[in-house]
Amino acid sequence: MIPVAAKAVDHLAHPGTGAGVVPRHVAIIMDGNGRWAKKRFLPRLAGHRAGVEAVRRVSRAARAMGIEALTLYAFSSENWRRPAEEIGDLMGLLRRFIRSDLDELASENVRLRIIGDYRRFAPDLVAMVDDAVARTAANTGPLLAIALNYGAQGELAAVARRLAERALAGELDPAAISPDLIDRELDTHDLPPLDLLIRTSGEQRLSNFLLWQAAYAELLFVDTLWPDFTEAALADAVAAFGLRQRRFGGL
Ligand code: IPE
Ligand code: IPE
Ligand code: MG
Repeated sequence: MIPVAAKAVDHLAHPGTGAGVVPRHVAIIMDGNGRWAKKRFLPRLAGHRAGVEAVRRVSRAARAMGIEALTLYAFSSENWRRPAEEIGDLMGLLRRFIRSDLDELASENVRLRIIGDYRRFAPDLVAMVDDAVARTAANTGPLLAIALNYGAQGELAAVARRLAERALAGELDPAAISPDLIDRELDTHDLPPLDLLIRTSGEQRLSNFLLWQAAYAELLFVDTLWPDFTEAALADAVAAFGLRQRRFGGL
């Protein structure tokens, strides 16, 4: 039986999740594509291709389970340190993914969102991404947020910069800067609070992903390499989440 989704409630008002509750917002650090390929004596690109298959599989499964928002870390602001050829391959896969999957996402009422400074990408890719987001903007269904050139420290620095500019212009009283105000300025401002953050591939770090938003998220590190992550693995993660006791500092 698929458990019912948690109601749209403020987390602090409803600290206990309890068994069988589906997280509203799941984020995934999709790691391990390169190691998946290496194990098979394949080029890293083959791992990234298999990673795209996993994106398709897992985002469909998340929708079927009633997860309201899924945020996927696809390219970090530090991934520019990779060889140009690999960056080019990743951009190529993103282009192909939009071409091949946008129709399905649009027809399934998915609302596509981007977090991160994706405007640093090639102009034609920026246009494709903007067009894809615009095509799903009037939808009302599940949210799929893709993190592109995303880094949490950069996101927070940008918020600080914008707020400082508003303060300097006399439009904002610094005393009014609160966690809620910052929340509303983040790239994730229209996503529900983060409930569950999963990282695949055995690494146990956040790699500059959703640092602010993860304040009270449940963290789950699994050894599975991202291309091997299945619908069942997502269901297991959701089940593990349902067994966590969330206290949010209370009792
Ligand atoms: C994650 O897989 C995909 C991206 C970061 C784009 P990796 O490419 O980091 O795979 P590993 O960590 O080398 O195995
Ligand atoms: C994090 O993975 C970024 C993405 C999954 C897009 P990395 O493979 O880049 O992280 P590190 O370098 O191992 O921390
Ligand atoms: Mg990696």
